[in-house]
Amino acid sequence: MSILLGLDVGTGGARALAVDAESGEIVAEASAEYPLHSPRPGWSEQNPEDWWRASKEVLSRAAREAGGKVAGIGLTGQMHGSVFLDSSDAVIRPALLWNDQRTGEQCRKITESVGEERLISISGNPAITGFQAPKIIWLRDEEPKNYEKVSKILLPKDYVRLRLTGEYATDASDASGTLLLDIGERDWSPEILDSLELPREWMPEVYEGPENTGGLRREVTDELGLSPGIPVAAGGGDNTAAAVGVGVVEAGLVSSSVGTSGVLFAHADEFRPDPSGRLHAFCHAVPGAYHLMGVTLSAGGSLSWWREALGGDYDELVEAASQVEPGAEGLVFLPYLSGERAPHLDPEARGGFLGLTTRHGVAHMTRALMEGVVFSLRDSLEIMRGLGVPVEQVRATGGGARSPLWRGLQADVYDLPLHRTTTDEGPSYGAALLGGVAAGVYGDVKEASSLVEIRDEVTKPDPERAKVYEAYYEVYRALYPAQRDAMHRLSSLAAGRG
Ligand code: XUL
Repeated sequence: MSILLGLDVGTGGARALAVDAESGEIVAEASAEYPLHSPRPGWSEQNPEDWWRASKEVLSRAAREAGGKVAGIGLTGQMHGSVFLDSSDAVIRPALLWNDQRTGEQCRKITESVGEERLISISGNPAITGFQAPKIIWLRDEEPKNYEKVSKILLPKDYVRLRLTGEYATDASDASGTLLLDIGERDWSPEILDSLELPREWMPEVYEGPENTGGLRREVTDELGLSPGIPVAAGGGDNTAAAVGVGVVEAGLVSSSVGTSGVLFAHADEFRPDPSGRLHAFCHAVPGAYHLMGVTLSAGGSLSWWREALGGDYDELVEAASQVEPGAEGLVFLPYLSGERAPHLDPEARGGFLGLTTRHGVAHMTRALMEGVVFSLRDSLEIMRGLGVPVEQVRATGGGARSPLWRGLQADVYDLPLHRTTTDEGPSYGAALLGGVAAGVYGDVKEASSLVEIRDEVTKPDPERAKVYEAYYEVYRALYPAQRDAMHRLSSLAAGRG
């Protein structure tokens, strides 16, 4: 049996899947957690050595359990993080992560140096606090001694790649989350690098997702229990790899994911960024292709917050919410618990319920909360439609794909049928498929993704409920612009800024 390994260097931990290359079935799986540090409010850091330790553990466990011969490895992981390396590849300081919010000032500087329109037309995105470039500028501004030592800067999964293969390499989709890539050219932008006075030599080589970035080096094979030279695919950022894993690799296909965050992801054959910057425009792991992506920061995360705040049981809460009628009797929830990316790009957006009466209980509030999350994803769908992105089939993925209520809400709020794939294993599955292309097991990404099958079961929208949601969505959309100032004021007060 020929095995493909997909490794996901996530935020909560690392996960490896071993996939039978012929059938696409998962034959083994391993995961290991690591800590997330928040030394100050709004800061979010991890220790790259923890990623490496966990990655070694899960790769060797998955390979051992699977048996068979490992033909290829594919990498994926949390995007946007910054690993600063000195000239001997030692990590200079803990990595700043995608959800770190310390770089507001640096985003302003980048926008000023490059110009907002130029930045969006080259890099596909405006300056966003979580992205990598503002983190580099932050190091220069705030930790100049550390900045002086920098010799290379890598993204999280690419640090693990360095340890596995000895190569400084990344893939075009993950590189898209730095703000330094010329997305149309699929390589680092001399214009942006020059404007920010960042040397190109610091950046790794950019490959297409299914390309081999180098074989497993001999020094690590004993520890991993794997043979030297196994090809390691460039891979993709987590959402890109997850899209490959549910077959979203051609125009017309869109995935809708409810996990901690919510993501609407559309394949695009051409690079056409959203001029307003509300959706991310990134390269895809399909060579030469792109994607548009809308991110709702607190999707399933809103429900986890609610469950923890109440001390309730998840299944009981969702079951009670499913008994409440659509619209929760006049209640609307704004899910901006961690600020918001799409469509507001506002770290100081804040959440809330509106419409509360004495009739409302926990079940109404849970339902309104889940509806609000899906309204937020609908915002991304509307922007995609407005940009002329074809939306022919929506595929549910993420933890929410397993819940009939989340699925039903998505179908009704989008007023579109929602499909599911037989395998829905997230980013590491897509990474394994990319590993298969790098190993020559599959001819290309489309051939690899043809292993992904659609289930017969489809969640169809109900016309009556869809009508109700249309009216509630109109109310939802009007709330953020009306409340924006109050949200900012509250955020400022909470931060002690008066
Ligand atoms: C994507 C994003 C997250 C991270 C962490 O833009 O910020 O999906 O990749 O999972």
